[in-house]
Amino acid sequence: MNQVPHHIAVVMDGNGRWAAKRCLPRVAGHKQGVASLRRCVKACAQRDVGVLTVFAFSSENWNRPMEEVSGLMSLFAVALGREVPRLHADGVQLHFVGDRLGLSEKLVAGIESAERATASNSRLILNICFNYGGRWDIVQAAKKLADQGKPVTEENLGAAMAMAHVADPDLVIRTGAEQRISNFLLWQAAYSELYFSERLWPEFDEAELDLAIESYSKRQRRFGKTSDQLPPSTVSPVVG
Ligand code: IPE
Ligand code: IPE
Ligand code: MG
Repeated sequence: MNQVPHHIAVVMDGNGRWAAKRCLPRVAGHKQGVASLRRCVKACAQRDVGVLTVFAFSSENWNRPMEEVSGLMSLFAVALGREVPRLHADGVQLHFVGDRLGLSEKLVAGIESAERATASNSRLILNICFNYGGRWDIVQAAKKLADQGKPVTEENLGAAMAMAHVADPDLVIRTGAEQRISNFLLWQAAYSELYFSERLWPEFDEAELDLAIESYSKRQRRFGKTSDQLPPSTVSPVVG
């Protein structure tokens, strides 16, 4: 049994510690983090993962020192310019998930143009969660329903969420040895399998990804049912 998850989501944590270990500024760790993301995108496409969602900047990360926040914003702008042509050539469809109101006009323009340019690609969907928080998403979805005068049902709320264009993540990986969710995909990870890696994000490579996928492939996903109710041959049934 070697099932590859359709949708993998990653909390890319540990850039700062990676830099500190080398006596480098934290932003150097974030730069290395971009390289690690490039490697991870390629590896996911090669393994026929359908959707990769990554947590790049949380609603709470604004509370970091000003120089780190501005460093992250410039790095994001530079990466957007540099990486998009390559991602497009590799058939990646890009989506940016998060509150755009908090971002500069220039950044929003870059985001929109990257989404437009890659909209018809189908090799891999890459969702970049930037200025994202699970609580923000639930609140913005609830506001949308209120504006539209729609009843608050699980289906309507799910459809109003910022990640409604993809199925819920099958596997959520967090690197950096922390075992918490930190306001990532609160709604969507309801039945995701969780994998915590000791590696710092810049050190997360293909072998570590394979370990996470291997662990996932051995899990039994029950979605509230009992083992006896599941089809006998399916160790890890894909639902939805
Ligand atoms: C994750 O790495 C990247 C962002 C939050 C932007 P960190 O910057 O949180 O790295 P650590 O956890 O301090 O090592
Ligand atoms: C989560 O990491 C956010 C991202 C990876 C973008 P943090 O480093 O911000 O999480 P906490 O503060 O340790 O929970
Ligand atoms: Mg961290």
